[in-house]
Amino acid sequence: MKIFRTLSASSLGLLFILSFLACDDTPEDTSNVRPLQERFDPVTQSYAYPIENLPPVEFVEGVKASDCGKCHVTIYQEWQATTHASALRDIQYQSELTKEDSPRWLCLNCHIPVQNQREYFVIGLENGDVLKPVTKPNPMFDPDMQKEGITCATCHVRLDKETGKSYVIGPKGSKNAPHPLKQDREFLHNLCQRCHNPQGEAITPNLICWFETTKEVTEAAQAIIEKFGSPQDCVTCHMPETERLVADAYPQLPAKKTRQHHWVGSGVPKWYDSFDTLLERGYHPGLKVTVAQPVFHQKDSLHLAITMKNERAGHYLPTGDPERFILAVVKLLDSSGAVIARDSYRIGQTWLWSPARKIADNRLKFGESMTWRPRLPLPQRGAMKGTLVVTIYHVRLSSKSAEHIMSARNVNERYLENGNELVRNADKYYPFAAVIYQEKIKLPGFQRIVLSPQELIELSKAERDKPLDEREY
Ligand code: HEC
Ligand code: HEC
Ligand code: HEC
Ligand code: HEC
Ligand code: HEC
Repeated sequence: MKIFRTLSASSLGLLFILSFLACDDTPEDTSNVRPLQERFDPVTQSYAYPIENLPPVEFVEGVKASDCGKCHVTIYQEWQATTHASALRDIQYQSELTKEDSPRWLCLNCHIPVQNQREYFVIGLENGDVLKPVTKPNPMFDPDMQKEGITCATCHVRLDKETGKSYVIGPKGSKNAPHPLKQDREFLHNLCQRCHNPQGEAITPNLICWFETTKEVTEAAQAIIEKFGSPQDCVTCHMPETERLVADAYPQLPAKKTRQHHWVGSGVPKWYDSFDTLLERGYHPGLKVTVAQPVFHQKDSLHLAITMKNERAGHYLPTGDPERFILAVVKLLDSSGAVIARDSYRIGQTWLWSPARKIADNRLKFGESMTWRPRLPLPQRGAMKGTLVVTIYHVRLSSKSAEHIMSARNVNERYLENGNELVRNADKYYPFAAVIYQEKIKLPGFQRIVLSPQELIELSKAERDKPLDEREY
């Protein structure tokens, strides 16, 4: 989630340092401290309140993912490679946390949501200002758990206020679990919206990323049933079923139908290495692309029709972060490979900043399709022996925004080891886009080659070596 993408790098600098020193400190005089409840409704705006400190679950050493992972080995390994596990280490996130108008404590509430992961409690706001949290130290702070981002306990562990003990929440309530367990499948299915569809007004006028993914899915409910034959939600689509041991450390128990913990989404992973495992983790783009046979028009132009349909994503495509977009590019190359004509089309939201305002949105709803009809001029009349290349990207971060990200200084290296160097060189460490479709059409006979998913992965990885000004997005 972003605030003020357009803040000029020059206005940063000193202010950063000042805000770092000033923020998150309890003032001597507390007469002007307003309780959080005055600003955020605890029920509808739960993201403003971390999940309370969790003592260790009985028969489990602690509440960290690494504790759960001793028995749930496979699920733990899957989780380790996810965006959820990277939610604190995310390079862009760490860059944005340095901005002086970032309400850091709130940003952390969704990216490291359990109180044990936090050094401090937020006990109020100075004059009700979200940029001036008043804090007190958290004696149960666990720095190792902090690194785990959206950890198992975020979704599976809660405090029983009567006994003061933690318990696990599971979908089926197995009798074989050594730890206390409460069955509540519905809770687990509804949980995603806490962060992916927060309720209430946006936190500050500039924090415009108010995701509405659950709302988008709800609106598509009927169309989803028609396509899939049954209702689908975040969990059924993003955590597909598989049969295996639920707890690998108990091989005497039978294998069961359980759910994978990959949460693959856009196919733009957080680290370049993760491209290598993307397909085996189940990535499948939401977009279906169809390129009609091109047509020569009056020998001086080539007419195309490229149809893009949101066939599989039960929400808008793209959903989530408003900076995400789909970019379709067509290029005509001559026989030596030089570009002689180019055109592009963007599907996404458009925002004006400071103050933030959405001015356009042409995202594809579930089941919706659009046809883009580029017309490329043919410089040499008549016979052409070139190649037409249609490339479609899912972009998370444009090169222009990336420059802002990379200009941040004073990254908190307690959150991200070596963070300053990672942010400065984000273009080498942090994938900004993935190639989700490419087709080459040879002229004049229109022979076609559509790239395989594995070839697309290789293209996505190769983006790393391109200077920012040579990237298409
Ligand atoms: C209400 C919960 C919530 C809050 C508060 C929140 N985020 Fe996020 N953030 C999310 C979710 C959910 C995603 C994943 C959406 C996506 O990937 O499109 C996300 C993703 C991100 C990303 C990655 C974007 C991408 O395209 O991959 C960044 C960077 C980020 N948040 C920064 C921030 C910052 C900075 C703040 C505070 C100003 C903040 N977030 C506050 C829930 C939240
Ligand atoms: C000492 C081993 C052990 C540890 C540590 C452990 N579990 Fe379990 N857990 C099990 C076993 C065994 C089952 C039952 C498996 C079965 O029925 O096949 C289970 C079941 C579960 C279930 C499924 C519940 C259901 O509805 O059927 C969940 C969810 C779960 N554990 C979460 C966790 C979490 C979260 C942690 C860490 C806080 C954790 N477990 C730590 C052994 C462990
Ligand atoms: C973002 C939320 C989230 C996180 C994080 C998460 N899980 Fe889950 N987990 C779920 C949901 C949702 C289900 C399945 C609900 C269903 O089956 O309908 C589930 C199911 C399970 C099950 C039950 C399998 C079965 O079907 O019997 C176990 C065990 C489990 N998780 C362990 C873990 C462990 C261990 C971690 C951390 C390494 C973890 N989970 C992290 C949401 C989460
Ligand atoms: C505590 C907040 C929280 C909860 C609960 C949560 N998420 Fe997330 N989710 C996030 C954040 C934050 C990110 C992005 C992290 C980043 O980009 O660094 C994210 C990322 C994702 C992504 C990856 C998007 C992409 O392509 O990069 C998917 C898919 C996803 N979540 C699905 C789910 C599902 C399904 C559930 C419910 C079982 C769920 N989330 C519950 C906060 C949450
Ligand atoms: C019908 C299946 C389906 C349902 C239901 C669904 N998703 Fe997705 N989701 C997808 C697919 C497919 C993609 C990959 C889109 C693409 O090509 O980038 C995706 C992508 C995402 C992304 C990455 C951003 C993007 O647009 O690529 C996030 C975040 C996400 N989903 C979260 C959720 C959450 C939260 C829910 C529940 C409110 C949910 N999804 C429900 C299928 C689904």
